[in-house]
Amino acid sequence: MTNAWPNGRAFDFIGGTPGSALISQLTDQLKALGEQLETALAAAHDLAALEELRVRFLGRSGQVTAVRRGIGNLPAGERPEAGKTINEAVSALERSLAEREAELQGRALAAQLDVAIDVTFPAPPARSGSLHPLRRATEDACAYFERRGFAVVLGDEIETEYYNFDALNIPPDHPAREGLDSFYFPNGLLLRTHTSPMQIRTMQAHPPPIAIVVPGKSYRRDSMDARHSPMFHQIEGLMVAAGIHMGHLKGMLTGMCRAVFGPAQAVRFRPSFFPFTEPSAEVDTTCPGCAGSGALGDGANCKTCSGAGWIEIGGAGMVHPDVLRESGYDPDAVSGWAFGVGIERIAMVRQEVDDIRVLFENDPRVLEQLA
Ligand code: PHE
Repeated sequence: MTNAWPNGRAFDFIGGTPGSALISQLTDQLKALGEQLETALAAAHDLAALEELRVRFLGRSGQVTAVRRGIGNLPAGERPEAGKTINEAVSALERSLAEREAELQGRALAAQLDVAIDVTFPAPPARSGSLHPLRRATEDACAYFERRGFAVVLGDEIETEYYNFDALNIPPDHPAREGLDSFYFPNGLLLRTHTSPMQIRTMQAHPPPIAIVVPGKSYRRDSMDARHSPMFHQIEGLMVAAGIHMGHLKGMLTGMCRAVFGPAQAVRFRPSFFPFTEPSAEVDTTCPGCAGSGALGDGANCKTCSGAGWIEIGGAGMVHPDVLRESGYDPDAVSGWAFGVGIERIAMVRQEVDDIRVLFENDPRVLEQLA
């Protein structure tokens, strides 16, 4: 009787000891598979490669399964021994795979430990923040006045028309309203156009003498460009007592300019008009860019002041008697000065920034340079 393996080899079971011949053939095949696997394992360097080998040798359509299928062609008496031989071979193959897997895992772990944190490695430099140029200008200016006994007062950015305009001598039909046109809310409130409303609020709440500074945001319906911003910062100053005159105002502003710009600063007043002060002045201080000469070393015009030698920092004047009266003060008993200076102006000149937007964009790389 002749029987054929699927691979076409024929075995003659008549005579001799065909069973043991088949078993030894089977054993040889399995031994060859074991050697193949060992070679392949040595070349497998990661767990994915191992998995491929497991499928190739022991998987459902793997090589060992192909060998196992051949059992069906053996005489029934031979099958148990053939099955045992195959099972032993499978265990051996599985052991080899497991050993290699453990080895590769151990290596992977060792590699990870090799790149573990080196605690002696120098840390990257710590980045520290800094005060914003506007904050520094505000604090420096306020500090000057605080040292002289002024109180720092903060006000709301949303105001009534009464405090922003009427009480400051700007009635509804006054042309000054136009220049200060603001952002209105439906119920007659508006974003304050200056910090001056706090003059009235403070005087109405406190009898004279008073001395305050009011730093804060103001808003105007201006389009954003290099010089304008719809939101900006001011410091308001107000001093009211018996015998206060314009010399006190000039002295205080000169002191403040020296505190924020440097000891050589001078202040000059140019006649101006504000409805809430009389007389009124525009306040200029020595241009720090050219020390007041208007020219740079090479004779060119100073860029900061366009050759004027002075830069404008705000408005000021003697508090109008109507404003004192409206606030409950007696203009015959006390007098006072007030000023409003632009913080952006101070910061831009100090930092040599020629575009106001730089102060609001807050690019950390720029702020780092201004620190
Ligand atoms: N409030 C004025 C402005 O915003 C400045 C000012 C303040 C003028 C106080 C005089 C007195 O332009």
